[in-house]
Amino acid sequence: MSPDLSTAPDVATLSPVEHQRGRLFPWVKPYYRDPLVIQEAEGVRVRDVEGRSYLDFFAGILTTSVGHCHPEVVARVQTQVARLGHTSTLYVTEGQLEVADTLTRLAPGRLSRVAFTNSGTEAVETAIQAACCYTGRSEIIALRHSYSGRSILATNLTGHAPWRPMASSVAGIKHARAPYVFRSPLGPTASDEEHTRFFLDDLVEVIETTTSGRPAALLVETIMGVGGFIVPPQGYLEGAAEIIRSYGGVLISDEVQAGFGRTGTHWFGCQHFGVEPDLMVMAKGIANGFPVAATIATDEVADAWAGLSVSTYGGNPVSMAATAATLEVMEREDVPERSRVRGEQLRAGLDELGRCYPWIGEVRGMGLMQAMELVKDPHSRAPDAARARALMEAAREEGLLIGAGGLNGNVIRIGPSMLITEAETAEGLERLARACARAAADGADA
Ligand SMILES: Cc1ncc(COP(=O)(O)O)c(C=O)c1O
Repeated sequence: MSPDLSTAPDVATLSPVEHQRGRLFPWVKPYYRDPLVIQEAEGVRVRDVEGRSYLDFFAGILTTSVGHCHPEVVARVQTQVARLGHTSTLYVTEGQLEVADTLTRLAPGRLSRVAFTNSGTEAVETAIQAACCYTGRSEIIALRHSYSGRSILATNLTGHAPWRPMASSVAGIKHARAPYVFRSPLGPTASDEEHTRFFLDDLVEVIETTTSGRPAALLVETIMGVGGFIVPPQGYLEGAAEIIRSYGGVLISDEVQAGFGRTGTHWFGCQHFGVEPDLMVMAKGIANGFPVAATIATDEVADAWAGLSVSTYGGNPVSMAATAATLEVMEREDVPERSRVRGEQLRAGLDELGRCYPWIGEVRGMGLMQAMELVKDPHSRAPDAARARALMEAAREEGLLIGAGGLNGNVIRIGPSMLITEAETAEGLERLARACARAAADGADA
């Protein structure tokens, strides 16, 4: 229940949680029955206001990619903010060019032109506008179970009812089936090839039956983040790229969650599938928690944007200092390889838990982006959100932060800093195992 702050004599008498409930919009909704008030953090540890320490297996939604308050990022930001804090995009700054060069070097294919903004939402919007300018078309195909952000366009692109606050509708957005094998109507006995064919046939049918047949773009998350780390079956992304291009549209790969080594081996999720998108969207892990996002496009797509645009804070010198330092650390530490190795360790531990508890319906993911989908029983696969809530609470009690996701809130998401050590990963798995034992005892009643 939100306190009425207009009659509260003194907000100092309120706890931070009560203060927030009365002062902020209700959609600023923290995790947990008794929300956690974090005060400080370092590496993979965060501390709350009462001095309790937690191992962070969620990294502020896969964002503190090289750990909280990484000393090189902190130092670079401190130096920059004392030297030049803001210019706007009306002036040239060297930091922006340095970061754009690095992104171009890391990005696949011919992606070489960059626009900086401040959030994944804005980067998605930029990609959609660029695709429309380039193709001269306006219909966009997105996927069910996708998440694109919180603007009106982005909530319409998002394929989850709970993330749409009202029945707003942006014309021209159509949703094809997500390549969600675990919940595919073909059932658990179908092969990956059969699932892939089914999802691709649906994409064609959506284009043929719900659009003019002339779509501007297909927007895909290579691994669907908020949807619950849905990994497409082999052949899906390649096939989807081929299909959208055969209809004259472009492929936009949303790498907000899957980007920057998170999925292991490669820098971006789409590289696992050998797909070179026409546009790519990046945010979260790009700057270790600073509000930075980027849209990268081929020359011809970028050049088609003839109209004016400006981003007051896009490419801000302080944001670019954070980004440059983060990318430097990520390259030096070879985070794609670290994610692969630590991801294997994490996955082995989660698979072990999956064998112990029938309510862990599926363990899935790539690299350090791993999830457990919780079900009431393995046969019906009915989503078990109550158990997921119980596991979140139990993990917190065990001093471990994990995330929730999925359309029904029944998927546990794990994505720690990519600099996490072997010992820290093992410690997190032990804490998670204890939390699972607690949730097994009381989860269904939560
Ligand atoms: C895949 C994806 N795209 C876009 C966004 C929107 O990013 P932001 O919250 O920075 O606006 C998110 C956020 O979770 C995301 O997961």
